[in-house]
Amino acid sequence: MLSLFLSVTAVVLAISLTRPVQVVYARCRNQPGDPGYPAAADWSTLNNTIGGRLLRVVPSVEACRKLGCTEAQWASGIFRQTIPGAMNAYNWEQDYTPPAELCLLNGTTCAQGNVPLYAVNATIAQHIQAGVRFARAHDLRVVIKSSGHDYLGRSTAKNSLLLWTAYFRDITFTDHFLVGGADQGSAVTVGSGVGLKNIYAAAKAQNKMFVGGTAATVSAAGGYTQGAGHSAFSPIYGLAADNVLQYSVVLANGSYVVVNSASFPNLFWALRGGGAGSWGVIIDATFRTFPIFSATLHTVNLLTATVEQTGDLMTLHAKHISDWDNVRAGQYFYLTGSATNSTLALNTVFKGLDGNSSKAQMSAFLSNATALGAIVQGESTITAAPNDIVGFPDDQSGYNVILSSRLIPKSIYVHSPSSVGAAYKQLLSQGIRSVLGHLVAGGQVSANANIDSAIHPAWRVAKTHLIATQLWDDTLAAADVLALRRNFTSIVRPVLAGLAGGPSSGSYSNEGDVLEPNPQVTYYGPNYARLKSIKAIYDPNDLFIVPTGVRSEIWNADGTCTV
Ligand SMILES: Cc1cc2nc3c(=O)[nH]c(=O)nc-3n(C[C@H](O)[C@H](O)[C@H](O)COP(=O)(O)OP(=O)(O)OC[C@H]3O[C@@H](n4cnc5c(N)ncnc54)[C@H](O)[C@@H]3O)c2cc1C
Ligand SMILES: *[C@@H]1O[C@H](CO)[C@@H](O)[C@H](O)[C@H]1NC(C)=O
Ligand SMILES: *[C@@H]1O[C@H](CO)[C@@H](O)[C@H](O)[C@H]1NC(C)=O
Ligand SMILES: *[C@@H]1O[C@H](CO)[C@@H](O)[C@H](O)[C@H]1NC(C)=O
Ligand SMILES: *[C@@H]1O[C@H](CO)[C@@H](O)[C@H](O)[C@H]1NC(C)=O
Ligand SMILES: *[C@@H]1O[C@H](CO)[C@@H](O)[C@H](O)[C@H]1NC(C)=O
Ligand SMILES: *[C@@H]1O[C@H](CO)[C@@H](O)[C@H](O)[C@H]1NC(C)=O
Ligand SMILES: *[C@@H]1O[C@H](CO)[C@@H](O)[C@H](O)[C@H]1NC(C)=O
Ligand SMILES: *[C@@H]1O[C@H](CO)[C@@H](O)[C@H](O)[C@H]1NC(C)=O
Repeated sequence: MLSLFLSVTAVVLAISLTRPVQVVYARCRNQPGDPGYPAAADWSTLNNTIGGRLLRVVPSVEACRKLGCTEAQWASGIFRQTIPGAMNAYNWEQDYTPPAELCLLNGTTCAQGNVPLYAVNATIAQHIQAGVRFARAHDLRVVIKSSGHDYLGRSTAKNSLLLWTAYFRDITFTDHFLVGGADQGSAVTVGSGVGLKNIYAAAKAQNKMFVGGTAATVSAAGGYTQGAGHSAFSPIYGLAADNVLQYSVVLANGSYVVVNSASFPNLFWALRGGGAGSWGVIIDATFRTFPIFSATLHTVNLLTATVEQTGDLMTLHAKHISDWDNVRAGQYFYLTGSATNSTLALNTVFKGLDGNSSKAQMSAFLSNATALGAIVQGESTITAAPNDIVGFPDDQSGYNVILSSRLIPKSIYVHSPSSVGAAYKQLLSQGIRSVLGHLVAGGQVSANANIDSAIHPAWRVAKTHLIATQLWDDTLAAADVLALRRNFTSIVRPVLAGLAGGPSSGSYSNEGDVLEPNPQVTYYGPNYARLKSIKAIYDPNDLFIVPTGVRSEIWNADGTCTV
């Protein structure tokens, strides 16, 4: 026994002498109470460096108690963006894991949960640079937030320092935007605190349009294009990320750089689709603009009385979805329902068509839907500037929601439309109450497959983006919230992934499930290895870590310790 032991030791020694084994110790970022955590005097120094713009951050409920918010303000995305600790879906502010730390609207106690401790309320890039340098020097957990819209909770984290970009509010138009000396034509540069609504309004005043989503406060230069950025006009103009010409970014080393196809091109590649919050702090982004045009929003509701009928209706919709290919319509097809009846709300956007032509585009589907027994209700059209059609007045906020999604390939719609209806039937039968369909791919999104960026290639062959949603109210106990979330993931994921083509199918990283078991494949696909190598160049110490983001797999869920 002894000799065996010795010889094993000798072998180990021999190996370690010839090929030194790199021992990687788990390491943790500094938390309050740790010896390396900044003292009050250090925070005060940071505060002085940024002109007194350092804030103590509290949960939105506590902030609202102090401010005396109305119910309307609580539920307003525009108002919530003025509260540094607020997330739009306020479940992300809570820490449901035992011992739970909650701050609920009707609660009698309020704990900090996953809300940052401090925030830099930045208005110039130097404020962000100071925050980044401070976080590096003290090895702190950092988060970046603009609107707080994130559906995966990536813009908030326990015990973190928030780099808050909500007040980068400049909007500048030019007819000749230069990249590396070459004229890229008409463009708009927007700060990373500007919501879509304000960009649409400013563009309209210039008789211009840009490719953005349907929302008020989603930040075009924040998380939106780092995920992809879909729009009702994507079938015509491509994804929002396809139309970014440049970003200005504060890097993890504190440098403030211009990033485009000629300057840091590998970072430019990663920022367009490589995942929000993983690369640096975007100060502003420049988007191509287009001459304004006229568009029609066609809306109609279809009611079904049984789950079988709902399945048949969704199969019929899948068969008709190519009806709108020639005119490259964008469509939101939102189904709300149950194992019995459902309502399909269809909002279709047609560029350059009037109301009657838009109705003509819809009539084949609607008459076949009537034939299968669906009740068609409230058909109407509005013809206006596209800016007014997709720019919302405000975004409903202040509730609890999670999502799970997949990009559904065009081939499924062409070869197997009945599998779409079957998937809806299965989801409804298993208790899912809402499935949000987006016809925002195909057309130019597919034609842009030649653009070399980190957009998940699943976007280029997709026809639709389907999201199942789960809401709950605050009466659900913390342990049940955790169970509900696990249930939701385990019910929805197999159905949508099955429809989308299996375990390697893709999902939109901005509108997905933070509990996806294999986010590297699901959100980044074949781009993951290259993304990791680019992150190693620009963020070698993982200052910018978000759940499901690049290199998140070596950090715990809070992003505080390596695993
Ligand atoms: C009502 C609503 C409508 C939506 N509609 C659409 C749509 O039509 N099309 C679409 O594609 N998506 C849509 N989305 C999803 C949206 O793209 C994502 O929620 C996106 O992440 C929002 O980015 P944000 O910066 O506004 O949000 P935040 O919550 O502030 O941030 C989201 C992510 O981006 C990072 N981030 C924020 N600011 C910066 C910055 N300055 N620099 C670097 N990283 C930053 C954060 O760290 C986080 O990881 C919608 C969301 C909502 C709530
Ligand atoms: C930062 O300084 C300002 C101005 O002096 C002060 O009002 C604010 O409370 C300070 N912030 C913190 C977190 O102490
Ligand atoms: C809070 O309580 C009020 C009054 O009981 C109720 O109407 C409201 O729905 C509750 N809000 C939440 C978020 O539970
Ligand atoms: C953040 O800064 C902006 C711009 O100076 C200011 O209007 C706003 O009130 C500040 N927010 C907070 C919470 O202090
Ligand atoms: C920060 O990183 C960038 C990109 O690697 C590099 O160009 C720049 O020189 C670095 N700045 C400093 C101050 O080290
Ligand atoms: C289902 O039917 C009930 C009763 O008619 C109705 O109140 C409800 O709105 C319907 N639900 C949907 C999602 O259509
Ligand atoms: C649609 O056609 C009808 C009948 O031809 C006409 O009266 C109406 O003005 C048209 N509406 C639009 C929006 O073009
Ligand atoms: C729609 O109805 C027409 C006319 O009845 C029929 O020819 C066609 O096959 C139907 N289309 C689908 C997809 O069911
Ligand atoms: C989760 O699913 C299990 C098993 O189906 C069920 O018993 C439980 O009630 C569900 N919990 C919640 C909170 O939905």
